[in-house]
Amino acid sequence: RERLRSAGDHPPPRPGHLHVIGAGVMGGDIAAWAASHGLRVSLQDQAPEPLARALARGREFLERKLRDPLRVREAMDRLIPDVAGDGVRHAEVVLEAIVENVEAKQAVYRQALPQMKPGALLATNTSSITLETLTAGMDAPGRLVGLHFFNPVAKMPLVEVIHGSETDPEAVRTAQSLARHLDKVPVPVRSNPGFLVNRILMPYLLEAVALFEEGVRAETVDRAATAFGMPMGPLELADTAGLDICLSVAEKMSGLLRTPVPESLRRRVAAGQLGRKSGEGYYHWPLTRPRGAR
Ligand code: NAI
Repeated sequence: RERLRSAGDHPPPRPGHLHVIGAGVMGGDIAAWAASHGLRVSLQDQAPEPLARALARGREFLERKLRDPLRVREAMDRLIPDVAGDGVRHAEVVLEAIVENVEAKQAVYRQALPQMKPGALLATNTSSITLETLTAGMDAPGRLVGLHFFNPVAKMPLVEVIHGSETDPEAVRTAQSLARHLDKVPVPVRSNPGFLVNRILMPYLLEAVALFEEGVRAETVDRAATAFGMPMGPLELADTAGLDICLSVAEKMSGLLRTPVPESLRRRVAAGQLGRKSGEGYYHWPLTRPRGAR
């Protein structure tokens, strides 16, 4: 029995193949990060443009991280664009990182689950939707686990591993083990609005936006935060994460937040000013000022 227990306690092996659905800001960067850690990664998107952008960004990242051209080529060989989504059938882990929309995510799971290998892990990078909402009506709700990476992926060690009331403990173990294999720090969190980090982060971001709306310049707000010791100011962080993502998280947490969702955030998102990815947010992107000067 002792032998069996220790065999059961053994951490799951590193998955050889990760399939990522959604090649945007997060999916693309997670894919490149995983390729740099030796995983074979297939990267799927509904459109070819985000895939091309993700691969270009991935190459730049790998050149910076690995330096040696041979290692860069090997890592790029492991990062495979997969428009048709064939990788779903071969991967040990399928990570969904598409837009923050319940119906769209559920449609992806309906299509992916029957094609996945038995026992393969299905994970979502959702930043604000509870697992209970995502798995409503799903045949195997225990298979979905949250694997919430933070932006920018290469710099943020934390990954929230989110479990709901029905999540299979084995899925949680596999997700934690994957995070460790990717040199990240997994923190198990129960599924609830804002999970853990956004419970702390969103009030801070929204207060920064409120100050901006009261007439304090974005640069002033951010300089105070960086001089205080934050690696990046809250408005630059909101732009970097994507204002649409911030709005979506804030709306889902509205019952918990004391600051009402700021008007300038809604207005910018409605106008397509989504921050860094659209070139316009609380700043014009790319930022031209040297960081230290702000
Ligand atoms: P994004 O808008 O940059 O990228 C989403 C990608 O998904 C797009 O390339 C789009 O073409 C693709 N897509 C949409 N529907 C699809 C489908 N049915 N099949 C295949 N591809 C599809 O979004 P982003 O920022 O990368 O966010 C992705 C997920 O990660 C969201 O759930 C978001 O809440 C979460 N997240 C975002 C963070 C951020 O800072 N942006 C941080 C942590 C989590």
